[in-house]
Amino acid sequence: MLCLGVESSCDETAVALVEDGRLLGQSLASQIRLHAIFNGVVPELASREHYRVIGPLFDSLMAETGKKANDIDVVAVARGPGLLGSLLVGVAFAKGLALCLDAPLIGVDHLKAHLLAVGLEKPPEFPALGLLASGGHTALYRIESPAVFRRLGRCLDDAAGEAFDKTGRALGLPYPAGKTMDELARSGNPESFRLPRPYLNNDNLDFSFSGLKTSAVAEAKNLADETKRDFCASFNRAMAETLRIKTARALDANPDLREIWVAGGVAANSTLRETLVTLAAEREAKIRFPSPEYCADNAAMIAYAGWSLAVLGYAHPLDMETIPRGRIIPDDYAKT
Ligand code: KG4
Ligand code: ZN
Repeated sequence: MLCLGVESSCDETAVALVEDGRLLGQSLASQIRLHAIFNGVVPELASREHYRVIGPLFDSLMAETGKKANDIDVVAVARGPGLLGSLLVGVAFAKGLALCLDAPLIGVDHLKAHLLAVGLEKPPEFPALGLLASGGHTALYRIESPAVFRRLGRCLDDAAGEAFDKTGRALGLPYPAGKTMDELARSGNPESFRLPRPYLNNDNLDFSFSGLKTSAVAEAKNLADETKRDFCASFNRAMAETLRIKTARALDANPDLREIWVAGGVAANSTLRETLVTLAAEREAKIRFPSPEYCADNAAMIAYAGWSLAVLGYAHPLDMETIPRGRIIPDDYAKT
């Protein structure tokens, strides 16, 4: 079964093909440079850019993979959460294609797709514990199947990636700053700065990173260049420790889970990876991360999630809604 995946939820436009669980190719255009001067994504510019590039990206994917539109068996698209105007470009494109090819449409939750991306390397095993840490979201899930995710904890304020980006901005780094902070951290001393490990003194699995962000931004504004590496290493450590403690608690509460999946842009972070690999070894659990290129927003994860749902018989009617950030994505699949 050949599944096309379409992604346009934020500032990456991408299309990808997955055949029988295997990635055939992806065409992706990033808008990072367009938004960098504004220090964040400008929604109106983002949707216009998605609209400009989505057709040519589809053509180049077909040329690169040697496939024709008619070969596509199912069309998957990120239906949310994200910027509504951006999402609508991908969803309208996917609906039009599904209609003209007479192929089933499947709307994919962008956050769940980030986690299911671990399957691009090797078929995943269920049930699993999923830690999602991206620019807009931080959450823990108990994952029963590609369609059944039970949320165990969520972020009450700023997401992990948001804390990286705002701290990096105060350091004078370009947006999005997480990757650069991580690179600087590799040659810094993580013991140099004392930063808070927020919202741990409770018995739930929710996260709160606004306190870490406020503290780090205040400190970062007055740093001399030669201390920035140490500061980034200390920030990496504070973030990784906080995520590790709640992940360990989720394992305590779900002792039957033997797999940990970690995904989203922040899952590319080197300190977080090392910290969670150690946790998994202590708990004798398997740990999986998508390869770094599939941690950031991409369409391979949408095509893979769509294919996983389609083989189980899930699909959506053409009146499927597009869901902006802040609204729960309904489980409104139809079975084919
Ligand atoms: O998942 P993603 O590409 O987009 C969203 O859906 O939000 O995540 C982007 C976020 C940004 O905040 C970026 O700074 C962060 O992931 N990020 C990192 C690293 N690479 C990307 N944060 C920490 N360390 C990294 N290596
Ligand atoms: Zn994302």
